[in-house]
Amino acid sequence: MRIILSGLVLAAMTLVAPIANADDPIVIKFSHVVAENTPKGQAANKFKDLVAERLGGKVVVEVYPNAQLYGDNKVIEAMLLGDVQIAAPALSKFQKYTPELQIYDLPFLFDNIEAVDRFQQGPAGQKMLTSMEDKGILGLGYLHNGMKQLSASKPIRVPADVDGLKFRIMTSDVLAEQFEAVDALPVKKPFSEVFTLLQTKAIDGQENTWSNIYSKKFFEVQPYITHTDHGLLDYLVITSSEFWNSLPDDVRPEVKKALDEAVAFGNKVALDKAESDKKLIADSGRTEIIELTPEERKKWVEAMKPVWKKFEDDIGKENIDAATASNASS
Ligand code: SIN
Repeated sequence: MRIILSGLVLAAMTLVAPIANADDPIVIKFSHVVAENTPKGQAANKFKDLVAERLGGKVVVEVYPNAQLYGDNKVIEAMLLGDVQIAAPALSKFQKYTPELQIYDLPFLFDNIEAVDRFQQGPAGQKMLTSMEDKGILGLGYLHNGMKQLSASKPIRVPADVDGLKFRIMTSDVLAEQFEAVDALPVKKPFSEVFTLLQTKAIDGQENTWSNIYSKKFFEVQPYITHTDHGLLDYLVITSSEFWNSLPDDVRPEVKKALDEAVAFGNKVALDKAESDKKLIADSGRTEIIELTPEERKKWVEAMKPVWKKFEDDIGKENIDAATASNASS
């Protein structure tokens, strides 16, 4: 009887969990929330191709775009559970795991992407890659998307124009404070819900990059976009320390090399798309792009910059100083 039972249990286990074979390739699931024709989407696909080319048979990368597998707030948990091996959430989505990365949400911190690069590749930015090691999360590198713009249901030129308007934000207290500083109402929602929220007018506006506004068609349901460059949307490519350390010693450096090259490729796409997707949006005739005068822009800076002080203790003044210093050679 006992023999029959254990036979049955074994048969049931084989059905639910295929037994890993030493010759099976290592599968890396890369889950993200954006479209494939974005900087992150293209970097993920490049990584998949490079790994197939160089480690074919040993390692297979599966890419899941458009929140097909996990939405933005669930993917980190899924990664820690081993259901996903690589993800690249927006830097605004790590607040639960480390206070330091909140620096990237401070409004009007970086003058441009070159300054962001200098900070990220410098000592303060590099140290932040390992700031979540105690939680089992390892930062493998930064990936750009670009500077954020404001889209809305009405024309926005000065802070008073957003008084009382509801703006969707990522799950970040810095971003909430940023909108409260101009008397708008921040609403934390997942990226996958933004289009419907805008279309049904449950919210009045949102902040995002040109490539996300274009690829997710936000411009079709937002009659105005103000070119503010008021904040940064970048990503941290992450893995779990447990998975990373489990990779064979001859495989890990090859995976990292492919990832670094894919990130460099994605960063180039990001630079190009900041221009080309803005143009595609303008040419669509579906929305009006508002360019600010220097005086109007100054009003936004004055209204939003006090947010820095509120998060200085969490982020570290030395980090904020290093970030502002990275603007110096702009
Ligand atoms: C992303 O670019 O990954 C999503 C950004 C957002 O949630 O607005």
